Amino acid sequence: MASFPSSIGTLVLLVLFIGSTNGQLSTNFYSSSCPKLFDTVKSSVQSAISKETRMGASLLRLFFHDCFVNGCDGSVLLDDSSSFTGEKNAVPNKNSARGFEVIDNIKSAVENVCPGVVSCADILAITARDSVVILGGPNWNVKLGRRDAKTASQAAANNNIPPPTSNLNQLISRFNALGLSTKDLVALAGSHTIGQARCTNFRARIYNETNIDSSFSQTRRSNCPRTSGSGDNNLAPLDLQTPTAFDNNYFKNLIQNRGLLHSDQQLFNGGSTDSIVRTYSNMPNSFTSDFVNAIIKMGDIKPLTGSQGEVRKNCRRVN
Ligand code: HEM
Ligand SMILES: *[C@@H]1O[C@H](CO)[C@@H](O)[C@H](O)[C@H]1NC(C)=O
Repeated sequence: MASFPSSIGTLVLLVLFIGSTNGQLSTNFYSSSCPKLFDTVKSSVQSAISKETRMGASLLRLFFHDCFVNGCDGSVLLDDSSSFTGEKNAVPNKNSARGFEVIDNIKSAVENVCPGVVSCADILAITARDSVVILGGPNWNVKLGRRDAKTASQAAANNNIPPPTSNLNQLISRFNALGLSTKDLVALAGSHTIGQARCTNFRARIYNETNIDSSFSQTRRSNCPRTSGSGDNNLAPLDLQTPTAFDNNYFKNLIQNRGLLHSDQQLFNGGSTDSIVRTYSNMPNSFTSDFVNAIIKMGDIKPLTGSQGEVRKNCRRVN
């Protein structure tokens, strides 16, 4: 009789054990193989951001664009090659994704202290965290142990990364498809508290939409001509108040109809996410704790682990 419950207990423990190791990541993955990893990455991120504050935003976005395309596997970093068309020229990335040279520098600094050990996918995850912290946002322990993909998919990048023309239902379903909830969507969209967007991505909103503050649209029109083709790459801050500080002003802007992208304002447009936006605008700590929870979840999307994939030597190409 006694052995029956105990064997169930063993089974439960075994299942828990497998559940926590199989395909899972851990915060101490490199603690003995690369003890200088965190210091090395942080000082490189710090120097990149000191040269150009916007780089913190660009690096955070790279992690998002990596994880949304077949998981966080460093695929966004691969240049086009003879065997595949990479993700860098996919619609959401072309003339837009940036920071690849910074990742190269970080990777070489890491290779100098522990050659062949740390994946490019993990470097992206640490770099995103460091960027947020340096710009005044929350800290978290980064889960590690991802390996790098040997291929990339331009088609998957086009299909999975939501365009700024998305409506709320489309945003929710792109995130849900990857296991991210509606709350995760709103919290992660709070990343638009930093960084810049190009005129081509907000022109239709500032000239044609009605759920926009009129003085805000006037200001944005002054540097984004109505006619497509002219000034397409002119930049405007995603958060007009504090574009280089990771804070909750993005949500305060939305409540005033000052979201820059159509997709931003969708989060506060009379729908189911309005209440979340209000909460984050009133309670910065609620935003930061949900953001941390959501970005850790995003970092868990379909990692390659164990003997899957490889640890790339150069983030731009497979070994
Ligand atoms: C919710 C759906 C999202 C849409 C539709 C979206 C779309 C965009 C667009 C169109 C831009 C401007 C690109 C350009 O004009 O070149 C942008 C910038 C940015 N996005 Fe998102 N994004 C979304 C979610 C996210 C998430 C989840 C993150 C991070 C976790 C993120 C981080 C950023 C950052 C930091 C920038 C500024 C980058 C820079 O200045 O270089 N975005 N996003
Ligand atoms: C505004 O909407 C009209 C009618 O749909 C369209 O023809 C025009 O190109 C739009 N303007 C911008 C700047 O998107």
